[in-house]
Amino acid sequence: MDLVNVAVVGAGEFGARYLEALKAVSGVRVSCVCDRDADRAAAAAEGHPGARVATDAAEVCDDPGVDAVIVVTPESLHRVVAEPALRAGKHVIVEKPLATTEEDALAMLGAAQESGKLLMTSFLLRFDYRYAQVKERLQGLGPARNVYAYRNFDRSLFGLYSRTHSFIENAIHDIDLVLWYVGSKVTRAHGYCRNTMGLENPDINWGVLEFENGAIAVVHTSWLYPDQRHDLLQWNTGVQVMADGGVLEVRSDSDGLRMNTSEHGQRVLDQTGWATIHGEPRGAFGAMLRHFVQCLRGETEYRGATPAEAIESMRVAVALADDAAARDAS
Ligand SMILES: NC(=O)c1ccc[n+]([C@@H]2O[C@H](COP(=O)([O-])OP(=O)(O)OC[C@H]3O[C@@H](n4cnc5c(N)ncnc54)[C@H](O)[C@@H]3O)[C@@H](O)[C@H]2O)c1
Repeated sequence: MDLVNVAVVGAGEFGARYLEALKAVSGVRVSCVCDRDADRAAAAAEGHPGARVATDAAEVCDDPGVDAVIVVTPESLHRVVAEPALRAGKHVIVEKPLATTEEDALAMLGAAQESGKLLMTSFLLRFDYRYAQVKERLQGLGPARNVYAYRNFDRSLFGLYSRTHSFIENAIHDIDLVLWYVGSKVTRAHGYCRNTMGLENPDINWGVLEFENGAIAVVHTSWLYPDQRHDLLQWNTGVQVMADGGVLEVRSDSDGLRMNTSEHGQRVLDQTGWATIHGEPRGAFGAMLRHFVQCLRGETEYRGATPAEAIESMRVAVALADDAAARDAS
């Protein structure tokens, strides 16, 4: 496969980010942009000369010119696009979480197994050099015993993302990392949530995970962070992993490029997620997209989260949400 032809389905907040990044990833061409909203799809296709605009994902499945589909629809609408695409012989990237129910996730896994096509869940932190280094360096430090991962996002963003429980939509990044680092099965999941904004789902979420090998982890996510200007974004995210031989830590808002202006004061600009350097997406997002393309071109072996791992992280997230709901109901 010389040039990988991709279709992006879902041209909302995050689909736009894919479309921007894909402009500068070599070996790939956007051949179709699909969104239920025709105007949105057409606007998003600008900047991709020759890209077809579609409003129905079935058109993408039927198009023999599409090799791979990137699914960037809302969390509960991943299966409706991904399963038919896999069955039509397309490789697929699905934004996280793989699905919001086990039934959907298993249907997608079945379609991937039957078609033999790559099904990648977009856990991009596995392609962030710092988080990937934690995994590698843990090998010399012994098992992870005690893990704390946090993710606090802007209040205003919760207007959109309250549509899905934050353990499943947001903390899922950390759940995937924690399972990857600890490498053992979760035996008990305790969720504690608060809804202070009155939106559809709780905006403060603490999850305590107990593992078969004795490890314990906390995943914490909230939407109580003040609003950020997104071109100056500092994610308040990080992880601390304690092992017998030492401690490994990643803190997104204290590392990176420092900028001080009279307008905004001191800022630390995250360079690890989306940074574009010399016109190319160079953060974890770019690395993940390049890896996907290289896999399809047969240049490397797949190193992202497997569908089985994505399903396990989703199960844990659902267990945390269910535990919190049961506690609140009692
Ligand atoms: N990895 C990250 O850091 C990150 C950040 C934000 C969002 N996301 C994920 O990206 C996905 C999309 O989120 P978003 O913020 O872009 O949401 P969004 O609501 O802004 O966009 C979703 C788009 O999908 C379209 N759509 C819905 N169903 C469709 C269908 N069947 N066919 C075609 N188009 C359809 C909608 O019209 C909308 O334009 C979600 O899974 C979300 O969790 C990931």
